[in-house]
Amino acid sequence: MSAVPSSLAPSPSSNPNKALWEKGDFTRIAATMRESGESLVRAIGVTKGMKVLDLGGGDGTTGVPAAKLGAEVLVVDIARNLVAAGTRRAKDEGLANLRFQEGDATNLQGLKDHSFDLVVSIFGAMFAPKPFDVAKEMVRVTRPGGRIVMGNWIPNDPTLVAQILKISASYTPPPPEGFISPMTWGLETSVVERFAGAGIPMDRIAFARDTYLFNFPGKPSGFVADFRKYYGPTMNAFDAAEKNGRAAELQKELETLFAAQNRNAGAGVTSIPATFLRVTVTR
Ligand SMILES: C[S@@+](CC[C@H](N)C(=O)[O-])C[C@H]1O[C@@H](n2cnc3c(N)ncnc32)[C@H](O)[C@@H]1O
Repeated sequence: MSAVPSSLAPSPSSNPNKALWEKGDFTRIAATMRESGESLVRAIGVTKGMKVLDLGGGDGTTGVPAAKLGAEVLVVDIARNLVAAGTRRAKDEGLANLRFQEGDATNLQGLKDHSFDLVVSIFGAMFAPKPFDVAKEMVRVTRPGGRIVMGNWIPNDPTLVAQILKISASYTPPPPEGFISPMTWGLETSVVERFAGAGIPMDRIAFARDTYLFNFPGKPSGFVADFRKYYGPTMNAFDAAEKNGRAAELQKELETLFAAQNRNAGAGVTSIPATFLRVTVTR
């Protein structure tokens, strides 16, 4: 695999996208997503020796299972703390074929053209600004005949994550002018437009609705507490809500949502499915 500079991303203070994901500790949420990460990697046909780039891969929810299947995996993520956590996981699991690297999906400088068989980005690259640049970079580093698989939350979808993000946004000050919502990656028309800008015709893009399951070993209110403490977008919403005296209202709204969506009500554990748009691009 190509050599990559040790840091591809600007400092947190100058980059709000990076600051958002370094603010909390996403590993605490990712721990509830492992089962679906494994299923997804199996479903998309990761095989031994395949060169895989996992973009916005966090601490390895999909990177670890892909490496366990024998792929050569590079996880690129903008958050320094998640890169460190992923590197520890790879070491603990004895996975010499799994590397974590700090970098920005909008500019994958240091990664060579056509160097991956598969680029995976599950709820990762959708959070980067400049979506047209992100599509171009993903296409650039994928080999002809290779694939890009994205998992994107869907705007206004009634299930968990789309609703958390919607509720959180309603308590947070409006974003700066020109800000493009990450949720637009969940709209097929936007996806087609962005990949068209990278030279990919529509007939090479396939869409499917898929489900991720969040498994938390406690009550829904405990899971809400983790989002409040560790998940950047929800942390920002609570920061703003506290200033406006609305934190209790936000807490209640989220607890109602989590309790209503829990499939294991009464069992003392929480299991919540969330729908996403799975995008497959053939290069
Ligand atoms: C919701 S988390 C998902 C992480 C991981 N894919 C998983 O399923 O556990 C979003 C991830 O995208 C990363 N991210 C956000 N913006 C990024 C960017 N511009 N470039 C690379 N990674 C980014 C965050 O640091 C975070 O790890």
